[in-house]
Amino acid sequence: MTRVFVTRPVPDAGLRLLEAALGADAVFMRQEDSAIPRNALLEHVGGAEAVLCMLSERMDAEVMDAAGTQLKVIANLAVGYDNIDVEAARTRGIHVTNTPDVLTDATADLAWALILSAARRVGEGERFLRADKWQGWGPKQLLGMSIFGKTLGIFGMGRIGQAVAQRAAGFNMDVIYHDANRLSPEVETALQATFVDKETLLASSDVLSIHCPLNPQTRHAFTWTAFEKMKPTAILVNTARGPVVKEEDLCRALEQGLIFAAGLDVYEHEPAVCPGLMHQERAVLLPHLGSATTETRDAMASLAANNIIAALQGRRPPNCLSCCG
Ligand code: DGY
Repeated sequence: MTRVFVTRPVPDAGLRLLEAALGADAVFMRQEDSAIPRNALLEHVGGAEAVLCMLSERMDAEVMDAAGTQLKVIANLAVGYDNIDVEAARTRGIHVTNTPDVLTDATADLAWALILSAARRVGEGERFLRADKWQGWGPKQLLGMSIFGKTLGIFGMGRIGQAVAQRAAGFNMDVIYHDANRLSPEVETALQATFVDKETLLASSDVLSIHCPLNPQTRHAFTWTAFEKMKPTAILVNTARGPVVKEEDLCRALEQGLIFAAGLDVYEHEPAVCPGLMHQERAVLLPHLGSATTETRDAMASLAANNIIAALQGRRPPNCLSCCG
Protein backbone atom coordinates (compact mmCIF):
# COMPACT_ATOMS: atom_id res chain seq x y z
CA MET A 1 0.00 0.00 0.00
CA THR A 2 1.24 3.50 -0.82
CA ARG A 3 1.76 5.34 2.38
CA VAL A 4 3.53 8.34 0.88
CA PHE A 5 2.67 10.03 -2.41
CA VAL A 6 5.31 12.38 -3.82
CA THR A 7 3.76 14.53 -6.55
CA ARG A 8 6.90 14.91 -8.70
CA PRO A 9 10.59 13.98 -8.47
CA VAL A 10 12.38 15.54 -5.49
CA PRO A 11 16.10 15.45 -4.60
CA ASP A 12 17.39 12.00 -3.63
CA ALA A 13 18.31 13.18 -0.15
CA GLY A 14 14.62 13.32 0.79
CA LEU A 15 13.62 10.18 -1.05
CA ARG A 16 16.34 8.13 0.62
CA LEU A 17 15.20 9.24 4.07
CA LEU A 18 11.60 8.24 3.32
CA GLU A 19 12.59 4.87 1.90
CA ALA A 20 14.97 4.10 4.77
CA ALA A 21 12.39 4.93 7.41
CA LEU A 22 9.22 3.58 5.78
CA GLY A 23 10.44 1.05 3.19
CA ALA A 24 10.85 1.55 -0.56
CA ASP A 25 7.42 0.06 -1.26
CA ALA A 26 5.74 2.64 0.90
CA VAL A 27 6.79 5.54 -1.31
CA PHE A 28 5.21 6.30 -4.67
CA MET A 29 6.92 9.17 -6.46
CA ARG A 30 5.28 10.33 -9.69
CA GLN A 31 8.01 10.25 -12.32
CA GLU A 32 6.95 13.12 -14.62
CA ASP A 33 9.04 16.17 -13.79
CA SER A 34 6.19 18.60 -14.39
CA ALA A 35 3.34 20.11 -12.42
CA ILE A 36 0.81 17.41 -11.68
CA PRO A 37 -2.56 17.96 -13.40
CA ARG A 38 -5.41 18.43 -10.96
CA ASN A 39 -7.23 15.23 -11.98
CA ALA A 40 -4.05 13.17 -11.55
CA LEU A 41 -3.52 14.71 -8.12
CA LEU A 42 -7.06 13.83 -7.06
CA GLU A 43 -6.59 10.31 -8.34
CA HIS A 44 -3.12 9.60 -6.91
CA VAL A 45 -3.69 10.92 -3.40
CA GLY A 46 -6.34 8.24 -2.88
CA GLY A 47 -5.29 6.02 0.03
CA ALA A 48 -2.13 7.99 0.87
CA GLU A 49 -1.21 8.62 4.48
CA ALA A 50 1.22 11.36 3.50
CA VAL A 51 1.57 13.66 0.54
CA LEU A 52 4.81 15.47 -0.29
CA CYS A 53 3.59 18.32 -2.46
CA MET A 54 4.82 21.42 -4.27
CA LEU A 55 3.88 25.07 -3.84
CA SER A 56 2.18 25.02 -7.25
CA GLU A 57 -0.39 22.42 -6.12
CA ARG A 58 -3.61 23.56 -4.50
CA MET A 59 -4.11 21.33 -1.49
CA ASP A 60 -7.67 22.06 -0.51
CA ALA A 61 -10.58 20.20 1.08
CA GLU A 62 -11.31 18.43 -2.22
CA VAL A 63 -7.81 16.92 -2.31
CA MET A 64 -7.95 15.99 1.37
CA ASP A 65 -11.29 14.25 0.89
CA ALA A 66 -10.05 12.51 -2.25
CA ALA A 67 -7.13 11.18 -0.19
CA GLY A 68 -9.37 9.69 2.48
CA THR A 69 -9.54 9.73 6.24
CA GLN A 70 -6.19 7.92 6.65
CA LEU A 71 -4.32 11.05 5.41
CA LYS A 72 -2.10 12.21 8.27
CA VAL A 73 0.25 14.76 6.80
CA ILE A 74 0.69 17.17 3.90
CA ALA A 75 4.34 18.19 3.62
CA ASN A 76 4.93 21.19 1.40
CA LEU A 77 8.32 21.46 -0.31
CA ALA A 78 8.40 25.19 0.37
CA VAL A 79 8.38 27.63 3.25
CA GLY A 80 5.33 29.44 1.85
CA TYR A 81 2.12 27.48 2.26
CA ASP A 82 -0.55 29.69 0.71
CA ASN A 83 -1.34 26.74 -1.59
CA ILE A 84 -2.66 24.73 1.35
CA ASP A 85 -5.95 25.17 3.15
CA VAL A 86 -4.49 24.80 6.63
CA GLU A 87 -7.88 25.23 8.30
CA ALA A 88 -9.42 22.43 6.23
CA ALA A 89 -6.46 20.23 7.24
CA ARG A 90 -6.80 21.14 10.90
CA THR A 91 -10.48 20.26 10.99
CA ARG A 92 -9.64 16.88 9.45
CA GLY A 93 -6.78 16.25 11.90
CA ILE A 94 -4.15 16.44 9.12
CA HIS A 95 -0.72 17.88 9.88
CA VAL A 96 0.55 20.51 7.45
CA THR A 97 4.29 21.15 7.34
CA ASN A 98 6.66 23.47 5.47
CA THR A 99 10.43 23.88 5.04
CA PRO A 100 11.56 27.00 6.94
CA ASP A 101 15.12 28.19 7.66
CA VAL A 102 16.99 26.00 5.18
CA LEU A 103 16.15 28.27 2.25
CA THR A 104 16.58 31.62 3.96
CA ASP A 105 20.10 32.35 2.69
CA ALA A 106 19.54 31.04 -0.83
CA THR A 107 16.43 33.20 -1.21
CA ALA A 108 18.10 36.28 0.28
CA ASP A 109 21.04 35.79 -2.10
CA LEU A 110 18.68 35.60 -5.04
CA ALA A 111 16.90 38.77 -3.93
CA TRP A 112 20.30 40.46 -4.04
CA ALA A 113 21.00 39.00 -7.47
CA LEU A 114 17.77 40.64 -8.64
CA ILE A 115 18.51 43.93 -6.88
CA LEU A 116 21.89 44.21 -8.56
CA SER A 117 20.66 42.96 -11.92
CA ALA A 118 17.77 45.42 -11.98
CA ALA A 119 19.90 48.33 -10.77
CA ARG A 120 22.73 47.69 -13.23
CA ARG A 121 20.60 46.52 -16.19
CA VAL A 122 22.33 43.16 -16.29
CA GLY A 123 19.66 41.31 -18.28
CA GLU A 124 19.28 44.14 -20.75
CA GLY A 125 23.05 44.37 -21.20
CA GLU A 126 23.36 40.66 -21.77
CA ARG A 127 20.54 40.65 -24.33
CA PHE A 128 22.16 43.62 -26.08
CA LEU A 129 25.51 41.84 -26.33
CA ARG A 130 24.08 38.49 -27.40
CA ALA A 131 22.02 40.24 -30.08
CA ASP A 132 25.34 41.38 -31.51
CA LYS A 133 24.40 45.04 -31.04
CA TRP A 134 27.46 46.05 -29.02
CA GLN A 135 29.78 48.40 -30.88
CA GLY A 136 32.19 48.87 -27.99
CA TRP A 137 32.34 50.89 -24.74
CA GLY A 138 30.30 54.08 -24.58
CA PRO A 139 30.15 56.76 -21.87
CA LYS A 140 26.34 56.88 -21.89
CA GLN A 141 25.68 53.26 -22.66
CA LEU A 142 23.18 51.32 -20.52
CA LEU A 143 23.51 53.54 -17.47
CA GLY A 144 22.05 51.96 -14.37
CA MET A 145 21.43 53.05 -10.80
CA SER A 146 24.01 53.02 -8.01
CA ILE A 147 22.75 51.31 -4.90
CA PHE A 148 25.72 51.92 -2.61
CA GLY A 149 24.65 54.15 0.29
CA LYS A 150 21.01 54.25 -0.78
CA THR A 151 17.90 53.16 1.14
CA LEU A 152 16.73 49.56 1.13
CA GLY A 153 13.10 49.07 2.07
CA ILE A 154 11.88 45.66 3.13
CA PHE A 155 8.21 44.71 3.11
CA GLY A 156 7.87 41.66 5.37
CA MET A 157 10.68 41.35 7.90
CA GLY A 158 10.64 37.64 8.67
CA ARG A 159 13.62 35.32 8.31
CA ILE A 160 14.26 36.09 4.64
CA GLY A 161 13.64 39.82 4.95
CA GLN A 162 16.15 39.92 7.81
CA ALA A 163 18.74 37.98 5.81
CA VAL A 164 18.32 40.47 2.96
CA ALA A 165 18.76 43.34 5.46
CA GLN A 166 21.97 41.80 6.84
CA ARG A 167 23.50 41.74 3.38
CA ALA A 168 22.74 45.45 2.90
CA ALA A 169 25.56 46.37 5.30
CA GLY A 170 28.03 45.44 2.56
CA PHE A 171 26.46 48.14 0.39
CA ASN A 172 26.37 50.72 3.16
CA MET A 173 22.61 51.06 2.77
CA ASP A 174 20.09 52.45 5.23
CA VAL A 175 17.51 49.78 5.96
CA ILE A 176 13.87 50.59 6.64
CA TYR A 177 11.12 48.01 6.91
CA HIS A 178 7.42 47.51 7.27
CA ASP A 179 5.75 44.42 8.71
CA ALA A 180 2.52 43.62 10.52
CA ASN A 181 4.73 42.72 13.50
CA ARG A 182 7.50 45.03 14.58
CA LEU A 183 10.85 43.42 15.49
CA SER A 184 12.20 43.68 19.02
CA PRO A 185 14.49 46.68 19.69
CA GLU A 186 17.45 44.26 20.03
CA VAL A 187 16.88 42.74 16.58
CA GLU A 188 16.28 46.18 15.03
CA THR A 189 19.59 47.36 16.49
CA ALA A 190 21.46 44.26 15.32
CA LEU A 191 20.10 44.71 11.80
CA GLN A 192 20.38 48.51 11.89
CA ALA A 193 16.82 48.52 10.56
CA THR A 194 14.19 51.17 11.20
CA PHE A 195 10.48 50.36 11.34
CA VAL A 196 8.34 52.67 9.19
CA ASP A 197 4.73 52.75 8.04
CA LYS A 198 3.93 51.50 4.55
CA GLU A 199 3.56 55.03 3.13
CA THR A 200 7.07 55.94 4.28
CA LEU A 201 8.43 52.68 2.94
CA LEU A 202 6.96 53.44 -0.48
CA ALA A 203 8.13 57.04 -0.55
CA SER A 204 11.64 56.54 0.84
CA SER A 205 12.93 53.26 -0.60
CA ASP A 206 15.44 53.30 -3.44
CA VAL A 207 15.14 49.53 -3.53
CA LEU A 208 11.97 47.92 -2.18
CA SER A 209 12.22 44.18 -1.65
CA ILE A 210 9.13 42.10 -0.85
CA HIS A 211 9.41 39.23 1.65
CA CYS A 212 5.97 38.83 3.19
CA PRO A 213 3.85 35.69 3.07
CA LEU A 214 0.82 35.71 0.78
CA ASN A 215 -2.41 36.06 2.75
CA PRO A 216 -5.61 38.10 2.42
CA GLN A 217 -3.84 41.12 3.97
CA THR A 218 -0.88 41.07 1.58
CA ARG A 219 -2.62 40.07 -1.67
CA HIS A 220 -2.25 43.02 -4.04
CA ALA A 221 -0.40 45.05 -1.41
CA PHE A 222 1.37 46.65 -4.40
CA THR A 223 -0.95 48.17 -6.99
CA TRP A 224 -0.85 51.29 -9.16
CA THR A 225 -1.62 53.45 -6.11
CA ALA A 226 1.49 52.12 -4.39
CA PHE A 227 3.70 52.60 -7.46
CA GLU A 228 2.51 56.22 -7.72
CA LYS A 229 3.95 56.83 -4.27
CA MET A 230 7.37 55.37 -5.10
CA LYS A 231 10.38 57.26 -6.40
CA PRO A 232 10.73 57.29 -10.20
CA THR A 233 14.24 55.95 -9.60
CA ALA A 234 13.04 53.07 -7.37
CA ILE A 235 13.54 49.38 -7.96
CA LEU A 236 10.94 46.84 -6.87
CA VAL A 237 12.03 43.26 -6.16
CA ASN A 238 9.72 40.34 -5.42
CA THR A 239 10.99 36.93 -4.36
CA ALA A 240 8.00 36.20 -2.09
CA ARG A 241 4.73 35.42 -3.86
CA GLY A 242 3.47 36.86 -7.13
CA PRO A 243 -0.02 37.92 -6.06
CA VAL A 244 1.42 40.38 -3.53
CA VAL A 245 1.94 42.57 -6.60
CA LYS A 246 -0.79 43.36 -9.10
CA GLU A 247 1.26 42.39 -12.10
CA GLU A 248 -0.75 44.32 -14.68
CA ASP A 249 -0.26 47.54 -12.65
CA LEU A 250 3.46 46.90 -12.29
CA CYS A 251 3.73 46.41 -16.00
CA ARG A 252 2.02 49.76 -16.62
CA ALA A 253 4.13 51.44 -13.94
CA LEU A 254 7.31 50.33 -15.71
CA GLU A 255 5.97 51.36 -19.11
CA GLN A 256 5.06 54.81 -17.83
CA GLY A 257 8.30 55.29 -15.87
CA LEU A 258 6.62 55.42 -12.46
CA ILE A 259 9.54 53.35 -11.16
CA PHE A 260 12.95 52.60 -12.65
CA ALA A 261 13.03 48.80 -12.74
CA ALA A 262 11.76 45.54 -11.26
CA GLY A 263 13.37 42.24 -10.40
CA LEU A 264 10.89 39.39 -10.21
CA ASP A 265 11.24 35.75 -9.26
CA VAL A 266 7.52 35.15 -8.70
CA TYR A 267 4.36 35.96 -10.68
CA GLU A 268 0.70 36.50 -10.07
CA HIS A 269 -0.45 33.59 -12.23
CA GLU A 270 2.59 31.28 -12.39
CA PRO A 271 3.83 29.98 -14.72
CA ALA A 272 2.13 32.67 -16.86
CA VAL A 273 3.81 36.07 -16.92
CA CYS A 274 1.99 39.28 -17.86
CA PRO A 275 2.80 39.64 -21.60
CA GLY A 276 3.80 43.27 -21.18
CA LEU A 277 6.49 42.28 -18.69
CA MET A 278 7.98 39.84 -21.16
CA HIS A 279 8.80 42.75 -23.45
CA GLN A 280 9.85 45.16 -20.72
CA GLU A 281 13.62 45.73 -20.78
CA ARG A 282 13.56 47.16 -17.24
CA ALA A 283 12.15 43.96 -15.74
CA VAL A 284 14.57 41.22 -14.73
CA LEU A 285 12.57 38.01 -14.81
CA LEU A 286 13.53 34.69 -13.21
CA PRO A 287 11.47 31.49 -13.07
CA HIS A 288 10.90 31.13 -9.28
CA LEU A 289 14.49 30.20 -8.42
CA GLY A 290 14.69 31.59 -4.87
CA SER A 291 15.62 28.32 -3.20
CA ALA A 292 17.15 26.70 -6.27
CA THR A 293 20.59 25.60 -5.12
CA THR A 294 21.52 21.95 -4.86
CA GLU A 295 22.34 22.27 -1.17
CA THR A 296 19.11 24.08 -0.36
CA ARG A 297 16.83 21.76 -2.30
CA ASP A 298 18.50 18.73 -0.66
CA ALA A 299 17.87 20.30 2.72
CA MET A 300 14.25 21.12 1.83
CA ALA A 301 13.57 17.59 0.62
CA SER A 302 15.16 16.17 3.78
CA LEU A 303 13.06 18.46 5.98
CA ALA A 304 9.86 17.50 4.16
CA ALA A 305 10.78 13.80 4.48
CA ASN A 306 11.50 14.13 8.19
CA ASN A 307 8.18 15.86 8.72
CA ILE A 308 6.41 12.97 7.03
CA ILE A 309 8.36 10.33 8.93
CA ALA A 310 7.59 11.99 12.25
CA ALA A 311 3.87 12.21 11.47
CA LEU A 312 3.64 8.59 10.29
CA GLN A 313 5.55 7.42 13.36
CA GLY A 314 3.08 9.24 15.59
CA ARG A 315 5.39 12.09 16.55
CA ARG A 316 4.79 15.80 16.13
CA PRO A 317 6.39 16.89 12.82
CA PRO A 318 9.20 19.39 13.46
CA ASN A 319 7.71 22.01 11.12
CA CYS A 320 4.04 21.58 11.84
CA LEU A 321 1.79 24.51 10.89
CA SER A 322 -1.53 23.02 11.81
CA CYS A 323 -0.61 20.92 14.77
CA CYS A 324 -3.54 19.24 16.06
CA GLY A 325 -2.45 17.23 19.06
C1 DGY B 1 9.17 28.76 -0.93
O1 DGY B 1 9.79 27.91 -0.30
O2 DGY B 1 8.10 29.21 -0.50
C2 DGY B 1 9.75 29.25 -2.21
O3 DGY B 1 8.91 30.06 -2.90
C3 DGY B 1 10.21 28.09 -3.07
O4 DGY B 1 11.35 27.62 -2.57
